[in-house]
This record gives sequence, structure tokens and C-alpha cells, in this order.
Amino acid sequence: MANSLRIRLLWWLLVPLALYVFVTGKTEYDNARHTANLVQDNQLVASARMIAGEVEWSDGFLRVDVPPAALEIFASPYRDQVFYSVRVVGGPLLAGTPDFSPRRLPAPDVPDSYYTDLHGQQVRAVDIVRLMYDNGVARPVRVTVGKTVRSRDAMTQQLWRPQLVRQLEMIALAVALVCIGLTFELRPLMKVKDEVADRDPMQLEPIRVERLHTELRPIVDAINQCIARLGVQVAAQRRFIADAAHQLRTPLTLLGTQLQFARQQEGLNPALDEALAAMHRSNRSMVGLTNKLLLLAQAEAADNSQVAMESVDLVPLAMEVVEDLALLAQARGIDLGAELHGAAPVLGHRGLLQALIANLAENAIRYTGSGGHVTVAVRADADANAATVSVTDNGPGIPAESRSRVFEPFFRASTDTEGTGLGLAIVREIADAHHGEIALKSGEGGKGVHIAVTFPCATPK
Ligand SMILES: Nc1ncnc2c1ncn2[C@@H]1O[C@H](COP(=O)(O)OP(=O)(O)O)[C@@H](O)[C@H]1O
Ligand SMILES: [Mg+2]
Repeated sequence: MANSLRIRLLWWLLVPLALYVFVTGKTEYDNARHTANLVQDNQLVASARMIAGEVEWSDGFLRVDVPPAALEIFASPYRDQVFYSVRVVGGPLLAGTPDFSPRRLPAPDVPDSYYTDLHGQQVRAVDIVRLMYDNGVARPVRVTVGKTVRSRDAMTQQLWRPQLVRQLEMIALAVALVCIGLTFELRPLMKVKDEVADRDPMQLEPIRVERLHTELRPIVDAINQCIARLGVQVAAQRRFIADAAHQLRTPLTLLGTQLQFARQQEGLNPALDEALAAMHRSNRSMVGLTNKLLLLAQAEAADNSQVAMESVDLVPLAMEVVEDLALLAQARGIDLGAELHGAAPVLGHRGLLQALIANLAENAIRYTGSGGHVTVAVRADADANAATVSVTDNGPGIPAESRSRVFEPFFRASTDTEGTGLGLAIVREIADAHHGEIALKSGEGGKGVHIAVTFPCATPK
């Protein structure tokens, strides 16, 4: 999660934004508090001046009548408490609360604002001094008006809160936009992921994604270059296997001939003859294996479009295979039949298609016991624009649990017969190279094997 692009981007966005909101929020709070203080102080000064204006001489004594208007200017829904005191400096209290602790004496008519505590509450107070003259002698009268700070606090909040809320809304919007925007902008990347994830292991074409961001293109280009290098490597390896198989054929053939020659010598010790015969059998199976390896390499090359394709009719091709295998079938007591009518042209490689049919038919003949039936059939389906070649037998069949694996190279479901395990791997490779679909099921009456390969027709109508 910590490595999520979304979360990392959000961090990049949220941390500076939060810092910005904190700093501006603090400044805005200070500004709002300053404005509220100013408004409050103006009210206090106005009230103090109004009261001071009412101080007068009466019968040689200083008197004051506090006008109601001087206190009404503080009316607000926040129920602030207002205190005042009018005192002759160094003399008696003329009106109001006596509890204001005296402060330094300000210059006459210059208001002095300060905070103080009164009855356990914070109070903002303003002092104003008015000089009253008695026969040329000045008597300073100090008027103090104080007020709790509830309405001032409320005003600060009213000035500051909406700005804060707007900024928090902006952050929330930015977060939402980053999340939505990323989801949209990451789609091409997800497409690249799908492209790569859905691939066959041997699909080595470059990745193609339309409308890819400039920033992502180098990544895809790098992957494509890697795929290209892999392709070269795979091709080299295939060529190596094909070359090795090809090189092995000559000495193996030579060895076979030499073994045969050795066995024809007169007066051969029977034990030696037995050994030579065994060597000859091993030699034959090695020739078979190299031939199949070569064929598999050719089929893989064809699957990678490295072999020229032509229009090939499956019907005569199957006929040739049936004729080639007739002797083997006869030797094994198998009734080999063919259902070959009309024409079934497909686009492909003649030798490989013949090998495909031969491998299927050979398997059917070899795994079906004596007295069995094997049928090779080719059908063209004009509606589906497809041609199907199928081989059906009534032998032992392939157990259900092995069916998904018989097409893997070197997998053999039964080991009591000779074989390489490459036959069906070759069939699958050739089918893939010709865009064919393989279907494997039980033969007639649930017995034996029915394998059908369906190819697209060469001449679409
Ligand atoms: N017609 C069939 N009837 C029964 N089993 C079969 C048939 N075709 C193939 N198989 C099974 O599938 C396995 C793989 O076949 P294949 O790839 O041709 O290898 P191989 O024939 O060399 O063993 C065989 O070992 C065999 O067990
Ligand atoms: Mg086989």
C-alpha cells in the first residue's frame, strides 16, 4: 500500500497543501482576531468617552450620570458582561465597580487598552483620563470600561471559519480529483498489463497499446526490446535443437546400417547376435526420437511464421498417410479405414500437415489392440468455412486425468509401449501454426479416442 502511486501522489499533494493551509489559516486567524479586537476597542473607547463626557462639577463635587446609551452599544447575543468605573485619581469612586485594579495613568484623552482579570474572567478594558478643572487646578478623572471577550471571540470565528472551511474543501476536492484522474490515466497502463498477462508463453510480438502517455512509452519500448531479444534467443535455441537433431541423423543411420551388416556375418555367436539385435532396436528408437525432435523444431518454426504456407488439400494428404500406414495396421491386426470425400483445402505446410495426420493415425494404430478399428476422416464444413481432420479408434482410450497433459512434450500416459511422448506435442504445435483447434474426446460408445483438428478453409467464400 505504501508503494501505491495514488498514495504517494496524495502525500506529495497533501503534505504541502496542509502546510499551506496551516500557515495561511494561522495568518487569517491573526487577521480576524486583530479586526475583532479593533471593533471591540472602538466600542470600548466610544463608551468610555461617552461616560467621561458626563462627568461634571456639582456644588463643588465631581458627579457623573452614566447614560444608558454608553452601555447599550455593547448589546449582542453573546451575553458579554460589561464593567465600568469612574474614579477621581487619588480620590473617591464616582460610579461603577470598585474592583478594577488601577493601571498606570495614561495621558489625558489618550485611550489605553489592556487585558485584565475580573471575577475570574478575561476582560478587555479601556482607560481614559479626563482632566476636570477646579479654579485652575486639574483633577484627573479616570474612566475605565471593561467587557468580557465572548462576542470578540465569536466575531473572530465568524471572520475566520468560512475561509478555513473553503480551504479544507479545496483539499478534499484535490484529493478526489487526484484519485479519479489517476484511475482514468492509469487505464492505458492496465491495458499494457492485460496485454502482457494474457500472452502465450511463446507469443513474442511487440506490445501494442494505442494512446499511451509519452511518459509510459519508454517503459513499453524497453519491454518490447526485451521481447525482441528474447525472440532472437528462442529462435537460436530452436535452430540449435533442429541442427543437433539433423546432425545426429547421419551417424545414427550409418550406425543402423553397420549393425545390420554385422548381424549378417556368418557363424555369429547367438549371444552376440542377440546383443546386436538389441542395439539395432535402440538405434531405431533413437532415429525415431531425432526425427520427432526435428519435426517439433520445424513445427515451432512454422508456429512463428517462419515457414511458407500454400493451399493444401487435406483429402489426398490423408489418403497418402492411410496408404503409408496400411502395412503397419495390417501387421497389428487393425482395420484401418478412411472417410475421405470431396476436397478440403487449407492454407498450410504440406509436410507438417501430413505429419500431423500421421502422428494421430500412428498413435491410434499403436495403442489400439489387435482386432480394433481406426478411422481417418476429413470433412469440409462449408457453412463454418472450416475443414476438419479426425482420427477415431476403439482402443483403451486416454484416462480423463491425462487428457490435459498428453499434448505436453515427453508426457506419456502409458509406458508399456515404445514411444517418445513427442507425437501429440508435434500435433499441437502444427495445429497452432495453422490456427487449428484440437478437440479430444472418447470414441464411439465411450470407447477409444477421437481427436479432431479443425482448420480454417484456404478459400473463404
Ligand atoms: N489413440 C490413443 N489411444 C490411447 N492412448 C493414446 C492415444 N494417443 C495418444 N495416447 C496417449 O498419449 C500419450 C502421448 O502421445 P504421444 O505424444 O503421441 O507420445 P507417444 O506416442 O510417443 O507416447 C501416449 O503415451 C499415450 O498414452
Ligand atoms: Mg505417438
